Amino acid sequence: MLKTALKLLEKIEEHGFKAYLVGGYVRDYLLNIDSSDIDVTTNATPMDIKAIFQEAALPHEDYGSITVMIKNVRFEITTFRREITYYNNRKPIEIEYIDDLLEDLKRRDFTINTLCMNKKGEVLDLLNGKQDIEDKVIRTVGNSYLKFSEDTLRILRAVRFATNLNFELSNEVKHAILATKHLLKNLSYERKRQELDKIFTSKYVKRGISLLQELGLDKELELTKLSQVTIYDDLIGIWAILDVSDRYPFTVNEKELMRKIHEAIPLNNLDPQVLYQYGLYVNSIAGSTKGIDKKEITKAYNALPIHSRSDIDITSQEIMTALNQKPGPFLRKVYKDLIKQLLMGKLSNQKESLLHYCIQTYKEIV
Ligand code: CTP
Repeated sequence: MLKTALKLLEKIEEHGFKAYLVGGYVRDYLLNIDSSDIDVTTNATPMDIKAIFQEAALPHEDYGSITVMIKNVRFEITTFRREITYYNNRKPIEIEYIDDLLEDLKRRDFTINTLCMNKKGEVLDLLNGKQDIEDKVIRTVGNSYLKFSEDTLRILRAVRFATNLNFELSNEVKHAILATKHLLKNLSYERKRQELDKIFTSKYVKRGISLLQELGLDKELELTKLSQVTIYDDLIGIWAILDVSDRYPFTVNEKELMRKIHEAIPLNNLDPQVLYQYGLYVNSIAGSTKGIDKKEITKAYNALPIHSRSDIDITSQEIMTALNQKPGPFLRKVYKDLIKQLLMGKLSNQKESLLHYCIQTYKEIV
């Protein structure tokens, strides 16, 4: 990936421009963390980049940024710029292309994101990013209050970086978050969810949740149940406990799963019928909200005599033959009863006992 990236820089420079890797890739490179896409900063405009990379450049352009795909690596190439006016504390609506790397770095959010790499693979550190990586601290480039007022997403980015990298927030960053957090109401729920997902799936999720609480961001983000989170290894489980599906965006499947978890919370998650009906995953999460150990639930689930209808040692055909019946709605009723009897331990899952039970119970009814 690095080799491909350095070659790309060389190609841009061969055309007379300056180009550097910047941001997350260089930060993560120094921290020995894998990155999936790479940001490049350059004085070439998107038009210049299109001319250089032709079909490798994706047609979509956004605010002086263009994507180039090479060997399955995604490069986000952005022209050096100054951001002049922001809209709604989020998007720069007026930008100016410039020719100066340092100026471009100054418009960025955190010092750890200003490190660059040139085509020789040398790291350029114009704004003290390396020291902050060593000190494990998140500091803004310049005035924190201004950085967060310009773009409120950065408040959540600060917490996300502190969580994922297990870094501290500088005191200035903390104070500025307290002073600007009310602006989070202008941020879309989609963006909030994206950042929160990254916090909730972090290895240091507990710390992330504490930071959100300590800074009072739970209230600003309408996550009033954040203190009730008892599971830390399941994203949808966390969101189910937070219970905000009426505001935050979720897929149909995610909503359905969260609905089932809520249904299973008031039930006995060790009861065989409940375990069978809602399954291991839903019961584990519902149970963990009440302090029931996941291992205990897994043990009870594994001990069920059947886990689905197909585990029953009798086929529909065998039931119909035994009862001398054609297919019909009665089959569903019989299965429902068989499942109940099996789960209650009143019937053993063997063809002969099942057939005997069917004949005894249903011969006259159906
Ligand atoms: N940036 C910024 N303000 C933002 C978003 C991004 O100043 N609200 C700058 C930062 O310098 C960042 C770079 O743009 O490093 C690229 O942004 P992005 O790809 O979103 O983040 P990364 O820092 O690369 O981190 P990650 O990929 O882990 O999200």
